[in-house]
Amino acid sequence: MNGHIPILSVNGVYKRFSGPYSLLRRFKSEPQLAVHALTNVTLDVERGETLGIVGESGCGKSTLARCLVRLHEADEGVVRFDGQDISNLSGGARRAFNRRVQMIFQDPYGSLNPRMTVSQVLSEALSVHKMRPKPEIPGRIAELLDLVRLPADAAGRYPHEFSGGQRQRIGIARALAVEPEVIVADELVSALDVSVQAQVVNLLLQLQEKLHLTVVFVAHDLRLVRHISHRVAVMYLGQVMEISPSEALFSAPRHPYSKALLEAAPELDPAHKNRNVALRGELPSPLDLPPGCPFAGRCPHVFDRCRVERPVLTPRGPGQMAACHLTDFGAPGASSDQLPTGH
Ligand SMILES: Nc1ncnc2c1ncn2[C@@H]1O[C@H](COP(=O)(O)OP(=O)(O)OP(=O)(O)O)[C@@H](O)[C@H]1O
Ligand code: SF4
Ligand SMILES: [Mg+2]
Repeated sequence: MNGHIPILSVNGVYKRFSGPYSLLRRFKSEPQLAVHALTNVTLDVERGETLGIVGESGCGKSTLARCLVRLHEADEGVVRFDGQDISNLSGGARRAFNRRVQMIFQDPYGSLNPRMTVSQVLSEALSVHKMRPKPEIPGRIAELLDLVRLPADAAGRYPHEFSGGQRQRIGIARALAVEPEVIVADELVSALDVSVQAQVVNLLLQLQEKLHLTVVFVAHDLRLVRHISHRVAVMYLGQVMEISPSEALFSAPRHPYSKALLEAAPELDPAHKNRNVALRGELPSPLDLPPGCPFAGRCPHVFDRCRVERPVLTPRGPGQMAACHLTDFGAPGASSDQLPTGH
């Protein structure tokens, strides 16, 4: 086959978790409820790009991130790395995958062992994957610290001696130690002060260009996502509603949910203050997904078909895909306020 192979591809992935099992349900012998964290997610991550993943809390961003690095196994569907189904990898191939795809976690406080110095943290990462012969390890540690712009004397210090932003740099250095091709960053800077967030995100942006990394950047903050991402996937209730080049998404979203999400983010448009108008209504429970479009209960453009037929991602403008029955929503020349016929 002579084709283009995305570095990561997600195809029809479902992930369910066991939900609460109330006494009443047990008493009535009803089955335990399932949380539908991912429902039929399909997307590609291209080599060298930064793909942003956004959406409200609980929409499945972290679950998707964890499926990409095989911290979760998909219940259905396939995740491929470099064309290979990652659930089939074993032995050396699995170790190679674990090295080539690195996850950086949200919590810079919890993910570093407080009893290990930075030097020990980094040399452990270098030794696990036999990245360097022993005598070269100190030199490589100095290089890694320089790469993430930490002072050389950071090597002998413990995590608690650093600020949150510096700890996140240590986390990045640890991920880079094994020379990965893909970094999956889940809320990399959410726990940091706003003033520090931009510095860490800019560092990631520079490293991505310098080292030709592929980055999957999961975040709440749309401003940061816009700044760093080439493309953005918008998730809602375990599904991808839209995936578009960043500028296209922010200037002309092709899905009513993307539009509502952008309007609910006042930082993107200070003139816009109607954050409660844009995202009105209740978020349906992932325990009880509606049969049609998951956004139907909140969508200002809902019509009959939306309640019975689940829309799937289909192409829109250049590089844009959206899962909505209104195929010309947001298209140039089309009025997004127009209701479909038969409403
Ligand atoms: N291990 C688990 N067991 C049970 N339910 C889970 C588990 N992990 C996630 N969930 C549920 O799956 C859904 C998706 O969760 P996920 O953490 O992926 O969302 P998220 O988009 O990352 O949210 P946030 O923005 O708050 O981090 C939620 O309803 C969540 O409660
Ligand atoms: S499919 Fe219908 S309910 Fe869903 S986003 Fe599109 S118009 Fe709204
Ligand atoms: Mg999360």
